[in-house]
Amino acid sequence: MTYPQTRLRRLRATPALRALARETSLTAADLVQPLFVCHGEKVRRPVASMPGQAQLSVDEAAREAEALAKAGVGGVILFGLPATKDPEGREAYDEKGIIPKALRALREAAPDLLLWADVCLCEYTDHGHCGILNGDQVDNDRTLPLLARASVAYAAAGADLIAPSDMMDGRVGAIRRALDEAGHAGTPIVAYSAKYASAFYGPFREAAESAPKFGNRRGYQMDPANSDEALREVALDLEEGADMVMVKPALPYLDVIRRVKDRFGVPVAAYSVSGEFAMIRAAAENGWLDGERAALETLTSIRRAGADVILTYFAKEIAPVLGRVEA
Ligand code: PBG
Repeated sequence: MTYPQTRLRRLRATPALRALARETSLTAADLVQPLFVCHGEKVRRPVASMPGQAQLSVDEAAREAEALAKAGVGGVILFGLPATKDPEGREAYDEKGIIPKALRALREAAPDLLLWADVCLCEYTDHGHCGILNGDQVDNDRTLPLLARASVAYAAAGADLIAPSDMMDGRVGAIRRALDEAGHAGTPIVAYSAKYASAFYGPFREAAESAPKFGNRRGYQMDPANSDEALREVALDLEEGADMVMVKPALPYLDVIRRVKDRFGVPVAAYSVSGEFAMIRAAAENGWLDGERAALETLTSIRRAGADVILTYFAKEIAPVLGRVEA
């Protein structure tokens, strides 16, 4: 049947009909807000390249978590700014470090909010790489026990999910074993499986003070040109015990999200990264596009591509809008 019997415009005529025909849903519970946590009290230090985002001391982060929970946001993912940095990134796996401290405070402030703990060394090392160095090389196998220690410390402090973002080979298995041995067999791992060496991380590195001091991350993060390799990364992480896998960034890699979802049929998270947020925010602040609509459209496209969960800096401001969306 074709025109005039078939008129696809019929189901687009009113908001109610469009709602009826809508294939993709987006709810606040699908969203996870990243938070940057620092030492001190009453600190709220704005991040210049991410208007609306700030480095927060633990007390402020706890208030933020409470507000996010009220808005129905699904969870928060925590990134820590240590008191001092050193070659081994010691504060990353210090049980009294910034992340365990934040986890305990947030758990109290927002008992039902899912607390994700990002696991990586780059915010904690003085050289800014995601693992410890051997000369100028990141030493994969010597990094694994440190990531495992950090994961156990975070689980013990109340993290609901452990999310390794370092891209070392074998880290999911190492973390799974360490968690199990420490009595955290029930704590799920969300693996940043397909994490690309991306220009879109720029603003995050300002927020987390984690830019590498020399070189780049191409020796461990993925080449943007590859997607078969993403499937291999996902397959290995699932074999090693990952409960959920992640694709990052999101918008330039929607094809990868779709391939992962179709191939494995497992829970998929997508990280809509700092540069994705900054692009929309900057254009909106210049009056070049409608920021709220652009954010909604982007997040919807990431869900449509196959992501179950989206990590996004828009979570806080977009959550209240979602209930009353009229598209
Ligand atoms: C690395 C890490 C990065 C992000 C989260 N964890 C990027 C990097 O490689 O520097 C980026 C997130 C974003 O850009 O929003 N531990």
